[in-house]
Amino acid sequence: MNKLAAVSIVGMGYVGLCTAASFASRGIRTIGIDIDHEKVEQIRKGRAPLHEPQLDNILRKAVKDRLLDATTDMSSAADTNTTFLTVGTPSRPDGSIDLTFLKQATTDLGSALRKKSGYHLVVVKSTVVPGTTSNVVQPTLENHAETKVGRSLGLCANPEFLKEGTAIKDALHPDKIVIGSNDKKSANQLTSFYRKFYAYKLPPVILTSPEAAELVKYASNAFLATKISFINTIANIAQRTPGVDVGTVARAIGLDPRIGQLFLKAGAGYGGSCFHKDIQALIDYSNKNGYDPVLFRATEETNEKQATRVVDMAERLLGSLSDKKVAVLGLAFKKDTDDIREAASLRVISQLRKKGARVVAYDPVAIPNAKKILSDQIVYADNPRSTLKGTDCAVIMTEWDQFRKLKPQDFRAYMKTPNIVDARRIYDPEDFRELNYAAIGLGPVNS
Ligand SMILES: NC(=O)c1ccc[n+]([C@@H]2O[C@H](COP(=O)([O-])OP(=O)(O)OC[C@H]3O[C@@H](n4cnc5c(N)ncnc54)[C@H](O)[C@@H]3O)[C@@H](O)[C@H]2O)c1
Repeated sequence: MNKLAAVSIVGMGYVGLCTAASFASRGIRTIGIDIDHEKVEQIRKGRAPLHEPQLDNILRKAVKDRLLDATTDMSSAADTNTTFLTVGTPSRPDGSIDLTFLKQATTDLGSALRKKSGYHLVVVKSTVVPGTTSNVVQPTLENHAETKVGRSLGLCANPEFLKEGTAIKDALHPDKIVIGSNDKKSANQLTSFYRKFYAYKLPPVILTSPEAAELVKYASNAFLATKISFINTIANIAQRTPGVDVGTVARAIGLDPRIGQLFLKAGAGYGGSCFHKDIQALIDYSNKNGYDPVLFRATEETNEKQATRVVDMAERLLGSLSDKKVAVLGLAFKKDTDDIREAASLRVISQLRKKGARVVAYDPVAIPNAKKILSDQIVYADNPRSTLKGTDCAVIMTEWDQFRKLKPQDFRAYMKTPNIVDARRIYDPEDFRELNYAAIGLGPVNS
């Protein structure tokens, strides 16, 4: 069929499905495996069970071209020669990593490989704390496959760095590939897979130990999350300083190449499935190894409190929030995704409700996911303008382009009183001068 090896991917979530669709879009025969029957059925019909730009098109084409298939049957992994594990690795209530899904997937994969003749490479793409690939995945796999990593079985840690919202682009154009392995053959196999896949666009490949590869992923997320908590800290200081806008400060410091412009956007705090859970897992891992990572605890605490800053701003504009109608524009943790896991909107909505506000919210794609968590605690609107109708305050929580298009006159026309809290800094304060406009990191205007 094609020159490239057939691969299987276990876990058809954001990472697994986007990776599978990207591989298949470049001619690799790919099988997606998941325990969720409904997801598998949808994928088989060429329909994406999650929102991700570009995914619908390449998935539909890949399924039509018979390059991508999905199944709940792990035994089909044995028909491929490489299996990527992309199952979830959530937090336990104490913050430590929960490896239940990974252990189960590894057990099932090992059993499926028991009778296989010929080489099979297993690649851990899920985010896991240092030591997991060597001390958890390897023995589980070896026990169930009844063979040792080496001649016929390969094992690598290969963390994933794609971002929801740009997952396909990131999968096709990563800035690096990190491969951790204890045996040369595994590392060589995976490197040569990526060399064929990316050809002349192969990014830098970092070959290291599994533990170092695993830590790279945590270091990366902890750095990015800390950068956000850093600029939010500066934003909270700027907000109390006449004539200062954190945007100017961020732009200026970002010109220093040691700092850089990206991830210096002040806001309501980070969300998403990764930063919070990964920092919690890193803190737990570090504590268990005898070191208290104070910095990362502060990163998390700053983030948690940022929701209070947003609600404080609404309260300052309105006085008491009791029985006030508040419009929340945006539920997804960022634009271009329907993911609301750990979204700042959830923290803000919870606080608004505790203070007695009635919340009406809108999001272009995340309402079905929001309903699973918030059910009827809030009212869901059909579009941005109907969200604003008769409200006392509007809080911008996600930087969707359709919210950017709203003009001051829209707020004035639809709201009872045009109080706006721009928690994402999507508007030019100058344009909103005539309205009651408050924004994260915007100090009092000098008069
Ligand atoms: N979402 C991201 O942006 C992102 C980015 C980089 C890395 N990661 C990491 O990648 C991993 C996956 O994240 P995600 O967001 O794609 O997760 P997800 O929750 O969206 O998807 C996980 C999938 O695994 C399936 N699954 C669970 N147990 C299984 C089993 N035993 N066999 C087969 N399938 C099983 C689930 O049904 C689900 O479809 C996590 O470790 C995460 O930290 C995520």
